[in-house]
Amino acid sequence: MKTIILVAFLIVLSSAELNEYGVGQSCDSNSPFAVTNFVVDPYPPTAGVQMNINMYGSFSKDVYISDISVRTRLNGSSWSTKYIDVGQTFKYAQVYTFAFPMTAGSTSGLYETQVRLESKEGSAVSCWDFSYHIA
Ligand SMILES: *[C@@H]1O[C@H](CO)[C@@H](O)[C@H](O)[C@H]1NC(C)=O
Repeated sequence: MKTIILVAFLIVLSSAELNEYGVGQSCDSNSPFAVTNFVVDPYPPTAGVQMNINMYGSFSKDVYISDISVRTRLNGSSWSTKYIDVGQTFKYAQVYTFAFPMTAGSTSGLYETQVRLESKEGSAVSCWDFSYHIA
């Protein structure tokens, strides 16, 4: 019984830590890249500021990544997409951090952003989704 309580406590503690430093959730359950932490700084952003994005994780198979597509929509309307070149083959069990800047929206509303690793442009193998609100 004591062990169960201790384990439950540790799980609560570690998930609280993740919430403090990470934002968002996976939007591709078959991804060969498992995100261990996703940090947006500053978070939440204010209108038009530069956010530094760090996506930490590891690869579960050898995979070529041509680019990162970063797509954003406001209030659920159409996506606008930007591409960041990668052009690198990653190895099984390789730990890697994808880091890039992006500019927060400046019109008020709810923004949803998806960060996707692509094997070629338009062909995503991994997806991470986060949202922010601009007043
Ligand atoms: C987005 O939604 C918010 C809240 O409903 C609203 O205030 C804002 O005007 C909307 N913006 C656009 C561009 O639709």
